[in-house]
Amino acid sequence: MTLHFRESIEELVRARTSWRAYEPWILTSGDLAELEKSLASLPPPPFGSALRHVVVPARSDDGTTLRGLHTYGFISNAAGFVVGVLGEDAYGLEDFGYVTECFVLHCTDRGLGTCWLGGTFDRSSFSRRADVHDHEQIPAVVAFGKPTALRGMRDRLIRLGAGSHKRKPLEELVCCSGKGGTGALSTLSPELQTALEAGRLAPSASNKQPWRFLVDGPEVHLYLHRDERYRGLGKTLGLVDLQRLDLGIVMAHLDLVLTARGHTCTWVVEADPPSFPGDLAEYRCTLIY
Ligand SMILES: Cc1cc2nc3c(=O)[nH]c(=O)nc-3n(C[C@H](O)[C@H](O)[C@H](O)COP(=O)(O)O)c2cc1C
Repeated sequence: MTLHFRESIEELVRARTSWRAYEPWILTSGDLAELEKSLASLPPPPFGSALRHVVVPARSDDGTTLRGLHTYGFISNAAGFVVGVLGEDAYGLEDFGYVTECFVLHCTDRGLGTCWLGGTFDRSSFSRRADVHDHEQIPAVVAFGKPTALRGMRDRLIRLGAGSHKRKPLEELVCCSGKGGTGALSTLSPELQTALEAGRLAPSASNKQPWRFLVDGPEVHLYLHRDERYRGLGKTLGLVDLQRLDLGIVMAHLDLVLTARGHTCTWVVEADPPSFPGDLAEYRCTLIY
């Protein structure tokens, strides 16, 4: 079974924003079965990591619990959470970001609001509800629900703080000087430009947008341009490397757009990748399409 979107993927990418306040909705067993069916149809992780997702209905104390788990912002009235559980694979965080973002876009397609939450979920009530074992971790969860008609004041303040409505221009993110490249974005194929634009609009922790792309003939190399202070803070708080989740999220956006246009996307880690010019960006993986 594969994930089927009703809307075009470009439209879903544009429509998705993080939503933090929801209408009251108590999930029925039918709702849960429907969500579990969607989870079962998510694409496999590109690097084959062991991961699974569990839908947990919200409890009245979840809002308070989340604040103690180093998430930021306030979630009110979520119907439930999709808790992702990951093993110990080398590219597990990227795989987790990729597969979970496919679920997020599926929710957007079904009119649901979502918000990624990065926090210290291990040993929390989320961990117990998802039956997490010793060798597993919860890198992040996604709150979901029926979005309120208008954004609440608190949500607007969080968005203001994170600069959520802003995105870096493609010129800052993409280098087109790889094999056969002229350096100009406008010379890329329209479908690759569309895919990169969908990547640009992806959500990221604190809206850091840590991704960089080097277009190299039929390949696109992906790099992490880390915010070291942010990473240091995350380590101090005991968070996973959230910027690697961001990279997985952007991988999903590129992949879904190109796949919708008939390409077969393969993800590899190259032994001797080119460096991203003039930047301290760390190579992570390559898309061949
Ligand atoms: C890995 C990850 C972790 C996030 N953690 C939180 C969080 O703890 N609290 C929160 O309110 N938003 C969180 N967000 C949402 C981001 O703030 C949001 O994606 C970003 O500001 C861009 O806004 P947009 O999603 O509305 O486009 C997270 C997003 C990602 C991808």
